[in-house]
Formats: sequence, C-alpha cells, structure tokens
Amino acid sequence: MKALAFNGSPRPHGNTAELLRKALEGAASEGAETEFVQLRELKMESCAACFSCKLRGGKSYGRCALKDGFTRFYRKLEEADAVFLGSPIYFGAVTAEAKMFIDRLYPYATYGDPPTSFPKRLRVGLIYTMGVDAEGYRRFEQHVKNNERVISRLLGPSETLLSFDTFHVDDYAKIVADSLMPLVPRKRKHRVEEFPKDCSRAYGMGAEYAREAACGGPEE
Ligand SMILES: Cc1cc2nc3c(=O)[nH]c(=O)nc-3n(C[C@H](O)[C@H](O)[C@H](O)COP(=O)(O)O)c2cc1C
Repeated sequence: MKALAFNGSPRPHGNTAELLRKALEGAASEGAETEFVQLRELKMESCAACFSCKLRGGKSYGRCALKDGFTRFYRKLEEADAVFLGSPIYFGAVTAEAKMFIDRLYPYATYGDPPTSFPKRLRVGLIYTMGVDAEGYRRFEQHVKNNERVISRLLGPSETLLSFDTFHVDDYAKIVADSLMPLVPRKRKHRVEEFPKDCSRAYGMGAEYAREAACGGPEE
C-alpha cells in the first residue's frame, strides 16, 4: 500500500505541508509506505497543450510527451493506492504548482466513456489552506468544487479538506499588512484551537484511505 502527497505550496514547512504530512502519518499508521513530494522542487513544466497524448496512433498516445521532473511521477501515481494534493489558496485559486499538477493529468482525460484512461480508481484527498474564514471561502468555493470534479473524473473518488484562517507568518508586526493586523488575534486562536483539529482530520483521512486500500480499494 502506497500513499503519495504532493505539496502545491512553495513552502515545504508551511500549513499545507503540515496537513499533508499528517495525512501521510495517518496512512503510515495503517501500514502504508509514504512519499512527500514538494512540487516546486521538481523542475516541472506546465502542460504544453501539444496534444501528443491525444494523437490517434501517436507514439505518446495516452502519455505525456514532456520529459521533466514530473515524468517519473506518472508511474508512481499509477502504483499508488492513495494520493493527496495540497494547495494554499492564492488570489482565489490553487497555486501555480498545484495547477500544473492538475493540468499534467490531461493525458488520462478521454473524450469518451470512461472519461479517463487512468488504470485504476484511487482515493484522492484534496487539502486546501487559506487565510480567510469559512465565510470568505464562499468566493472561491466553485473553484475548489471544480477541482474535486476533475480529479474524481480522472483519478478516482476525491474529497476536500479545508483549513481556514491560517497563520502565514510568525510575526505579522514585521510585515506591512495593516488590514490584516486586526485579524491576528482571531488567527492566533484558530491556530491553537482549530488547526490541530484540521491536522486530526487529515490524519484520519490518510488512515481511512489506507484501510480502504487494504480492503481492495474505494467504492464510488
Ligand atoms: C500570493 C498569495 C496570495 C494569497 N491569496 C489568498 C487568497 O486569495 N485567499 C486566502 O484566503 N488566502 C490567500 N493567501 C494566504 C494563503 O492561502 C495562506 O496563508 C496559506 O495557508 C499558505 O499556505 P502555506 O503555509 O502552506 O504556504 C495568499 C497568500 C499568498 C502568498
């Protein structure tokens, strides 16, 4: 049983990384072999829209023609039993790294039935962190839901875990961000009281996916 976590945050030790590592710990507690992947370190290109993966009779049909730091992860994805993709919200959307990851799944997308050529159905946990609270999240909820739809179609049944009101810097007084200052006490309280609960949920997700894989994989 293998579980992979892809971190779309440029920060390898930020909030998103922490939650992803918890998810992997949960999977490991049920016997999974785990790997944490920092997307920004991969020297990965964005989808070139070359359509080599869709070319009838083409030598790259169903496969990505790009050869870069992400290439070896196609095989790892196909061998995995559970996958986690984490991203902070940047201006209402996933980071560039997370978007690249999603777009690079295009070789699996078919315009037929089934709508994917991915060789199995995986459980996928989508983990997002953001500075806003649940109310502010509504502005980009559609974006998050769309990602869940796309990943469910391509890889397998996915779920979304949201972590609000995150702390981005240890000391907000050091940065120029006047409008954020009044929010700091609320954020601090959230960090102490709510973030550990988010970590437990991530851990639980990892453990559940690993247990499910041990019993033969997900039910749609
Ligand atoms: C460029 C940039 C844009 C951001 N845009 C938003 C945003 O639109 N909404 C939001 O809630 N938080 C936003 N944030 C805050 C981050 O989503 C939040 O701090 C996140 O938890 C950071 O994740 P990390 O600690 O894993 O890097 C932004 C942060 C950066 C650096």
